Amino acid sequence: MVESIENKTGLSMTFFVTTSLGPTSKSIGDARELAAFLNVAYVARRDQSIKNLTALYPAEGVLVVSSQKISFLIEKDKIFFHPGLALPRIKEINNGKTDQMISALSLQEGDSVLDCTMGLGTDAIVASYITGSRGTVTGLECSPIISELVKRGLQSYQIENEKIMLAMRRIKVIKTKHKVYLASLKTGSYDVVYFDPMFRYPGRKSSGINTLRILANHDPIDHETIKMAYNAAAKRVVIKERRGSTEFARLGFKNIMGGRHSTVAYGIKERERWNERIT
Ligand SMILES: C[S@@+](CC[C@H](N)C(=O)[O-])C[C@H]1O[C@@H](n2cnc3c(N)ncnc32)[C@H](O)[C@@H]1O
Repeated sequence: MVESIENKTGLSMTFFVTTSLGPTSKSIGDARELAAFLNVAYVARRDQSIKNLTALYPAEGVLVVSSQKISFLIEKDKIFFHPGLALPRIKEINNGKTDQMISALSLQEGDSVLDCTMGLGTDAIVASYITGSRGTVTGLECSPIISELVKRGLQSYQIENEKIMLAMRRIKVIKTKHKVYLASLKTGSYDVVYFDPMFRYPGRKSSGINTLRILANHDPIDHETIKMAYNAAAKRVVIKERRGSTEFARLGFKNIMGGRHSTVAYGIKERERWNERIT
């Protein structure tokens, strides 16, 4: 039964896993496996609408597995993996335009990037496209549902442009809190360490981000995390924030970059010598 779910997600919400209508045997297997992994109930779809299923098995959310994608539904809202804005951003880059994030990261082909706040991976895809097959992008995401959506989506999403598809496939996703992962790293493990935290979004109305907000971790970044990030970065640590955010000063970022008309800005801590530690 769904009411007494104890799940691994850390969410104070009930949900179960089912399939899309007319599921393949692979989708059923994947859904069962995902339910077991997340420690939540698997509910067979049996040609029922989601509304009927949630009437039979009351839950606030439903994770739906189909052969193409996994979606998380909350009432009429849903999120699923999609490269989203990564595609127009890559197109602009190919047209010679500047991408603010790529400039802030000073990203070059062959660089290694640690994206500490992966979300659905838009920034990571653009970074992976730039760093290319000689570079690496590792994304950390602590929400089990978001990390499953992005991990599976990056490996299975089909797109005609092979270069973008390979950029997606190369990204490694790790389900962990960034502080835990950063604590395990040696000095200079990645060229660039990047943060795009959640708590600067409260005013946004987009339905996608609202569902993401429910599933995402909202903890502010602490000083120790920035210190560890600095030690793990060979070149720079970058944090994306709302333009004018007090977070930059709170976390000690003095070098701020961002267009005058942009709503976001990037705080940069550059390493002068990669082996210099901060205390
Ligand atoms: C604003 S979203 C990132 C969006 C992403 N840059 C993109 O381009 O799609 C922030 C994400 O970071 C995750 N997150 C927040 N705190 C985290 C932490 N301590 N460790 C790992 N992930 C974290 C949230 O769950 C959320 O999915």
